[in-house]
Amino acid sequence: MPHRVPGVIIELSIIVPTFNEAPNVAELVARVTAAVEGIDAEIVFVDDSTDDTPEVMRVVAAGAGIPVRVIHRDQPVGGLGGAVVEGFRAAASDVCLVMDGDLQHPPEKIPEMFERHREGDVDVVVASRYAGGGTSTGLADRTRVLVSRASTALTKAMFPVRLHDVSDPMTGFFLVSRSAVDLDGLHPRGFKILLEILVRKPFRIAEVPFDFGDRHAGESKASFRQGMHFLAQLAALRFGKMSLFAVIGGLGAVANVVIVWALTHLGVDYVVAAIIAAEVTIIGNFLLIERFVFQDMRGDASGVWSRFAKSFAFNNAEAVIRIPIVALMVSTSHISAVLATAITLVVAFFVRFVFHSLVVYAP
Ligand code: GDD
Ligand code: MN
Repeated sequence: MPHRVPGVIIELSIIVPTFNEAPNVAELVARVTAAVEGIDAEIVFVDDSTDDTPEVMRVVAAGAGIPVRVIHRDQPVGGLGGAVVEGFRAAASDVCLVMDGDLQHPPEKIPEMFERHREGDVDVVVASRYAGGGTSTGLADRTRVLVSRASTALTKAMFPVRLHDVSDPMTGFFLVSRSAVDLDGLHPRGFKILLEILVRKPFRIAEVPFDFGDRHAGESKASFRQGMHFLAQLAALRFGKMSLFAVIGGLGAVANVVIVWALTHLGVDYVVAAIIAAEVTIIGNFLLIERFVFQDMRGDASGVWSRFAKSFAFNNAEAVIRIPIVALMVSTSHISAVLATAITLVVAFFVRFVFHSLVVYAP
């Protein structure tokens, strides 16, 4: 049951998932309180901490100028995403804003997000690092910037229609109308709860840019393990298209080998056989993905030659470029040619998928 604060109708519930954020709590509550002046807002902490964070929260809550509730989970399920869903369920208002507890999400943006929602024509307001004017300076190093950019591109490629209007589906700073979300249909795992919400059904979405700042205190809980969770989540959400794409790619590889074998047995020169096999598989591949993978994204049938040209050019370029890349990998690092080939094939698979969903079958 949604919680009611006596005498006040809460217009905005601010849900803050936390894990060991004690040194940030007082500052966060102070800045949120100042920012929401004129809005009847509450803060709902959903806390999975193993340290004294809940005690600190209770002290801060007692002296706060707006209602602050602390839900501590002894048996956390679903990690950060699970905590957010728990916050949705407990929220007093249908209008729920989610933000991190480490002040990387500036509380001063809250009124703008609330206003944008109140204008009335959207279910979700996404605070984006990548929309015009947004920044991601708080991403600790170049590697994280790169990982974030690459995973955003991959994610958008996998859900080109649903995420068409969203530049930052991985952000943890957003506002939703709870009633627009099917809470029971969510299966949160790890960090990317907004992504899951957005891909499950179509929403009316608006974005506002924001500056993803530095942590106020403490350490990030992002980890390699979270990264793996994310990939598993993506696969689970989008098993259909990508696995079919992979199966067709695998069939193509087998066909390629069989054709080379057959032609060389017929006395055809190896290089000629390899080229014929490659082109036949590239064409066959296109026909299969056109028919079975992206059939719902073809738009009009007259564009088939243009799609074929793009797909054909890409696959040929990729096949040619792969050879010197493998050679470069073998000569500059100490990995074997087999491993280098395997790595490039896996990377090529994802790049090919991204290219086909975002360029060849662009929505
Ligand atoms: N309840 C709960 N349970 N909260 C958690 C958990 C958990 O298992 N893990 C992390 N949190 C809380 C943190 O305490 C913090 O308030 C917030 O979730 C974000 O965690 P950070 O550790 O600060 O993650 P980050 O800054 O690396 O990631 C943020 O930026 C990403 C984009 O780069 C998050 O907003 C991500 O959702 C976002 O994708
Ligand atoms: Mn953070």
